[in-house]
Amino acid sequence: MSDPTLTGKPASEPRIDPPMGLLAELTHRCPLQCPYCSNPVELERRSDELTTADWQRILCEAAALGVLQVHLSGGEPAARRDLTELVATCAEQQLYSNLITAGVNISPQRLAELADAGLDHVQLSFQGATPEVTEQVSGLRGAHDKKRAFAAEVRALELPLTLNVVLHRANIDQVDDFIALALALGAERLELAHAQYYGWALHNRSALMPPRAEVMAALAKVEQAQARLKGRLAIDSVVPDYYARRPKPCMNGWGRQTLNVTPSGLGLPCHAAQRIPGLEFWSLREHTLADVWYRSPAFNAFRGTDFLPDTCQRCERRDIDFGGCRCQALMVTGDARQMDPVCEFSPWHDDIQTLAIADSARDAAFAYRRFARRGE
Ligand code: FES
Repeated sequence: MSDPTLTGKPASEPRIDPPMGLLAELTHRCPLQCPYCSNPVELERRSDELTTADWQRILCEAAALGVLQVHLSGGEPAARRDLTELVATCAEQQLYSNLITAGVNISPQRLAELADAGLDHVQLSFQGATPEVTEQVSGLRGAHDKKRAFAAEVRALELPLTLNVVLHRANIDQVDDFIALALALGAERLELAHAQYYGWALHNRSALMPPRAEVMAALAKVEQAQARLKGRLAIDSVVPDYYARRPKPCMNGWGRQTLNVTPSGLGLPCHAAQRIPGLEFWSLREHTLADVWYRSPAFNAFRGTDFLPDTCQRCERRDIDFGGCRCQALMVTGDARQMDPVCEFSPWHDDIQTLAIADSARDAAFAYRRFARRGE
C-alpha cells in the first residue's frame, strides 16, 4: 500500500455553516418494493409520522436557518394527504421544493394542485427502461406506463423534470435505453446512480452487484453520452463505491451541508446514520431544527476531519472527500471513525473489492420490500 500525498497542513477545524438542503422523509410508505431501497430495514410506522403542523413548523425553521432546497421524499411522499399543503408552505417560505416520487399514485389533478401550490421541480424514479424491467425491479405491475404518463403530465405543466435511475445488475445493460427514455420524456436531467449498499439494499447486495466489466462499459457509455448531449440533457453519474479507488464525499461531509428528517421527526446527518452505535439523535418534536443542526451530539460526532486516522490527515484529498462515508467505514471495518474502505489507502480496500467481485458472481434472487404492509 502506498502513502497518499503529504501536504503538511494541519487538520481542519470544523466550521459550522447553516445547512443548504433538507431531505424531508415524509413517510416510509411506498407502493414500490425495490430491492435497492436504502431506507432502514426497520421502517417507521404511519402512526408515528409527524403531523402537518409539525412539518410546517420544521419548514419555517428551515427557511429561517438558511436552508435553500427541500427534497420531499420518502418512501413515496404522495402517500401523505397533506403534500400540497407542505409544498405551499415551502413556497411561502421561499424554499425551492423538489418532489422525489415514483410517479405511480399522483393523478393529473393532484399534480396540477401541486404545481399551483408552487412546486418547483419533479424527480421521477425509473427502475427499468422497459416495462418488463421496471415491473421486475419495482414489483408493481403497470408501473412503467404510469410513470411515462406521469412524466408527460409533468412536462405539460412545464415543471422541470429529472429522471432518477438506480443502476444494478438487473438494469445496467440499459444505460443507452435510459438516456433515450430521458430524451423522449423531455427530461432536463438524468441521474444514473449505482446502487448504494445501505439499509435494505445491503441485504440485497449479492443480487444487485454488477460485474466490474459491466460497470466499466456503462461508465464509458455515460461519458460518451455526456459529451454528445451537452446542452440538451445533463447526465449525472454516480459510480459504484465498491469498485472505486477513492471514496465519495458522502453527504458532502457529515453535518456540513444537508440534513435528513425521518417520518417520525428524528434529525439525521445521513439516511443510514442510525446504524452507527452510540450516536444520540435529537427529535424535531422536542428540539428546533437549529438545535439539531448546531448542537445535537449525532451531528457533532463526525464534523470536520479531526477524528480521521493519520493517513487521512496527511492526504491532499482530506478536505475534498472528508474521509468518505462513516456508515460504510462502520459496515466494513466495524469502526465509523476509520477511513472509508473504498479508499485505495485503506487497509480494508482489498476486502471491499473482494466482496464486490464475490457478490457479482453470486446467483442471488431479489428480496423485495413490503412497505405497504410493514410501514402501516
Ligand atoms: Fe452515512 Fe455515508 S451513508 S455517512
